[in-house]
Amino acid sequence: MTPKGSIRTPGAERIQADGAALGPADEELDRSLRPRRLSDFVGQPAVRDQLAVFIEAARARGESLDHVLLAGPPGLGKTSLAQIVATELEAPFVQTAGPALERKGDVAAFLTALEPRSVFFVDEIHRLPRALEETFYPAMEDRRLPITVGQGAGARVVTLDLPPFTLIGATTRAGLLTTPLRDRFGVTHRLELYGPEDLARIVLRSAHILGVEIDEDGATMIAGRSRGTPRVANRLLRRVRDFAEVRGAGWIDADVAARALDLLQVDGAGLDRLDRDILETVCLKFDGGPVGLSTLAVAVGEEADTVEDVYEPYLLQQGLLKRTPRGREATPAAWRHLGLEPPKGRSESLF
Ligand SMILES: Nc1ncnc2c1ncn2[C@@H]1O[C@H](COP(=O)(O)OP(=O)(O)OP(=O)(O)O)[C@@H](O)[C@H]1O
Ligand SMILES: [Mg+2]
Repeated sequence: MTPKGSIRTPGAERIQADGAALGPADEELDRSLRPRRLSDFVGQPAVRDQLAVFIEAARARGESLDHVLLAGPPGLGKTSLAQIVATELEAPFVQTAGPALERKGDVAAFLTALEPRSVFFVDEIHRLPRALEETFYPAMEDRRLPITVGQGAGARVVTLDLPPFTLIGATTRAGLLTTPLRDRFGVTHRLELYGPEDLARIVLRSAHILGVEIDEDGATMIAGRSRGTPRVANRLLRRVRDFAEVRGAGWIDADVAARALDLLQVDGAGLDRLDRDILETVCLKFDGGPVGLSTLAVAVGEEADTVEDVYEPYLLQQGLLKRTPRGREATPAAWRHLGLEPPKGRSESLF
């Protein structure tokens, strides 16, 4: 799905973005590099260790796992983890997404067709229509599905029993979930942006799978510019490989990686064109802010959701942008990153 209202053509600056700009080749890449077992899943030790215990306990008891909510920015491994849970439980994996479920009947069709102990994965669960949430409550709680049969005066409610199953919900916006829905998940895991060492391991692993020759310094260079996101790391690896084949000797070291990344306009902090556009807009057009999210999004020609879900987490983590009740503000580090002097007269305490 291409973001509506985007004035950008696909190019270097979109490489870093989320699934929105994925071409078929990138989707194929995502699939082929997806870790299959918990032991292949790099990083996120807290999540991995906890899931390992729950999975082992559920397997030992022959029961389904408690419902799991996975929250975090795009490309951090939510879908991968959901599939891993099913694989580790040796259970069927059934997948849908919030926006694909429109009517109660859609949910009922999925739930009644589940085999016992299945993992039912609902991606973008925050986009589930509100009216359908209630269908999930009894299903999650007591494995019951009340359905209305007939119409008018003759209508009656029949309750179907469901097999034991595990619902795994994924969301980039845990805050948009209603409390009753969130409370029905036994476990909630928040995935954090990855550190450079973990990303370097992911790059090395992916290079190995793709048969790309790369040394540790090359992997570290790509990792450092991947904005904490495995999907971005994999995508950059692929583009750097293209560069290495065309302009280099076919293998990747720090020098080849750095030249390729410069060509892709990914800077030393891992910021792409749109990241820099956002910072420049806040600093130069809005005097450093505060500026409201929707105004900022219009100014950079992006959807507000994309700015908030895809771009902001990294800018916030890097301490370049700040969220305040009055809007987004650039920090002194943002001005310096753009090669500008932070404005005088603004006390540092403002930031
Ligand atoms: N911990 C990890 N170890 C190795 N590779 C990973 C890890 N996490 C993610 N990846 C890689 O990143 C890609 C994207 O991950 P995934 O699709 O699971 O993210 P997601 O959180 O579901 O993203 P979205 O919110 O966009 O759906 C995967 O195909 C996989 O190659
Ligand atoms: Mg996903």
